[in-house]
Amino acid sequence: MLIQESNEDELADALAVEAAAFGSDVEAGLVSDLLNDPSAQPSLSLLAYENDEAVGHILFTTVHLGSAASIKAAILAPLAVMPEYQNQGVGSQLVEEGLRRLAEEGVELVFVLGYPEYYSRFGFQPAGVLGFDAPYPIPEKDADAWMVRAPSPGIQGIVKARIVCADSLMKPEYWFE
Ligand SMILES: CC(C)(COP(=O)(O)OP(=O)(O)OC[C@H]1O[C@@H](n2cnc3c(N)ncnc32)[C@H](O)[C@@H]1OP(=O)(O)O)[C@@H](O)C(=O)NCCC(=O)NCCS
Repeated sequence: MLIQESNEDELADALAVEAAAFGSDVEAGLVSDLLNDPSAQPSLSLLAYENDEAVGHILFTTVHLGSAASIKAAILAPLAVMPEYQNQGVGSQLVEEGLRRLAEEGVELVFVLGYPEYYSRFGFQPAGVLGFDAPYPIPEKDADAWMVRAPSPGIQGIVKARIVCADSLMKPEYWFE
């Protein structure tokens, strides 16, 4: 499998994967909005190819920590794998490659709102109890779905912040199921 950064030329591939994986145009619309949103930059958009076919897509965009503007942070949203390629490691490889590239860029914290059982395998842990508030309050029953990865001991306990995402993501509909 080949994983490569996607840009304008591959946008249609990314949107097709998102639409097929989610069975809706909502996430494809979000990807399109975020890639055109200056407040989301820098962003990292990766596509996974199998035999020249786009089979997975992941997007990371910049977020800010209200009280600690110097800390580089990103959010993972969305992640999508074509239905016929799911459960074959495509999503995992995209997450791991994305996290590797972000670390190279000095990104210290990565947030996600997603399945705890899935993202915990990459080192994500519940973010609320560590003092990182989501842009909108997450209902108590879903609290574990708001996660952060790799808060170093130096950051943990010092930084208590509400995360501010790109304008395109600061919409309540993306934070409530
Ligand atoms: C969720 C998704 C991205 C996972 O990608 P994938 O390539 O299918 O997953 P991988 O092959 O990397 O990992 C497979 C493992 O993830 C687990 N997994 C898959 N979907 C899961 C889910 N919704 N919740 C919890 N675990 C899940 C599988 O059970 C499997 O576990 P195992 O390794 O213990 O057997 C993919 O199924 C998908 O695109 N789903 C539809 C869109 C979506 O829900 N995106 C996630 C938004 S947070």
